[in-house]
Amino acid sequence: MKNILVTGGTGYIGSHGVVALIESGYTPIIVDNLSNSSKEVLENIQKITGIKPDFYEIDLRDYENLESVFQKYDFEAVLHFAWAKAVGESSEKPFYYYENNILGSLNLFELMEQYDCKKIIFSSSATVYDSIKSPPFVETDMTGNTTNPYGTTKFLIENILKDLVNHKSFQVVNLRYFNPVGAHKSWLIGENPNGIPNNLLPFIMKVVVGELPAVQVFWDDYETKDGTGERDYIHVLDLIDGHLKALNFIEKSQENTWFFEVFNLGTGSATSVKEMIQFTSEIIGREVLYSIKPRRTGDLPSSFCDPLKAEKVLGWKAQISIKEAIEDSYNFMKKR
Ligand code: NAD
Ligand code: WQD
Repeated sequence: MKNILVTGGTGYIGSHGVVALIESGYTPIIVDNLSNSSKEVLENIQKITGIKPDFYEIDLRDYENLESVFQKYDFEAVLHFAWAKAVGESSEKPFYYYENNILGSLNLFELMEQYDCKKIIFSSSATVYDSIKSPPFVETDMTGNTTNPYGTTKFLIENILKDLVNHKSFQVVNLRYFNPVGAHKSWLIGENPNGIPNNLLPFIMKVVVGELPAVQVFWDDYETKDGTGERDYIHVLDLIDGHLKALNFIEKSQENTWFFEVFNLGTGSATSVKEMIQFTSEIIGREVLYSIKPRRTGDLPSSFCDPLKAEKVLGWKAQISIKEAIEDSYNFMKKR
């Protein structure tokens, strides 16, 4: 069975990745410093799959301890999820974001080079697209002009990976996620951030379970279908299916080729904030309270992708509806 290093494997998206890898016959090995997750996730992965994956509580910035993992295993590929991801916090603490995300990734890449494991699937983000262009975003669109340090770290690492393709023969699949939502069908793993969530659906869920009073809708006078912001929400299980297809793509590629292949992972359609609230009300059978607030700095009115490249090249297409994703998030929140 092939060993896959999963950085950030106890996090929201990474834990779904670990489950899918196990179910597809791979052996995932997790490295996570637990800065935004907990060991409990490992128990839940075991409940779902029957297997407790090898786990190392290591910070990617700790080169020596990270190297000990490379010494122990022969890795087929790396899925690199580990990242500090709060956009607002990144503006308050830019140095922490540069250090955690860039230094951590550099250590990882250096060890990959040294131990001759050069296949990587990188968790990039829609945020790297230059917003000068209107959506749908296509992989060939311009990137850069990032508006916060989080986005800058994604943009910089994409570019560093391009260098490593050109000069160190890395094979990179760079996945630009749109807005991941939903939870595993067991409802044992999902997204439940500490404190007040930054992202819309986790915020709505905290209102639904009574932990927050009302959803704050950041503006209702955009030029969108109902004035509120529109996003391309993608179920985390579809997103992870995209990673398995990407892994297959890397494994099938010739050893002596190297590439930086970019794919958008999104549905291609946009849902507004008011629609998200409305769908949630329908699912839970009661009204979800909200109030209109001013625009949030840096927000785009609308963001969605053209997902056709992933369909053509990887044979991947999102299957799960937004309503089902909201239902899964709700069930996960009730069960936790
Ligand atoms: P998450 O915070 O739930 O998971 C990230 C994990 O990385 C956490 O478990 C955290 O403890 C770990 N981590 C952070 N810094 C680390 C370090 N220095 N060393 C070791 N472990 C470290 O986030 P997520 O939503 O699962 O995101 C996974 C990836 O997807 C991230 O790279 C994120 O930037 C990217 N992404 C997420 C979204 C989203 O909306 N969730 C959208 C686009 C891209
Ligand atoms: C969605 C919509 C808000 C919260 C962010 C990052 C991006 C990516 C995903 C990692 C917008 C509105 C939100 C709330 C609201 N992360 N909203 N009230 O802004 O698309 O992207 O997370 O790469 O980099 O910027 O997602 O969920 O924060 O917002 O009205 O309490 O909901 O204005 O229109 P966003 P989001």
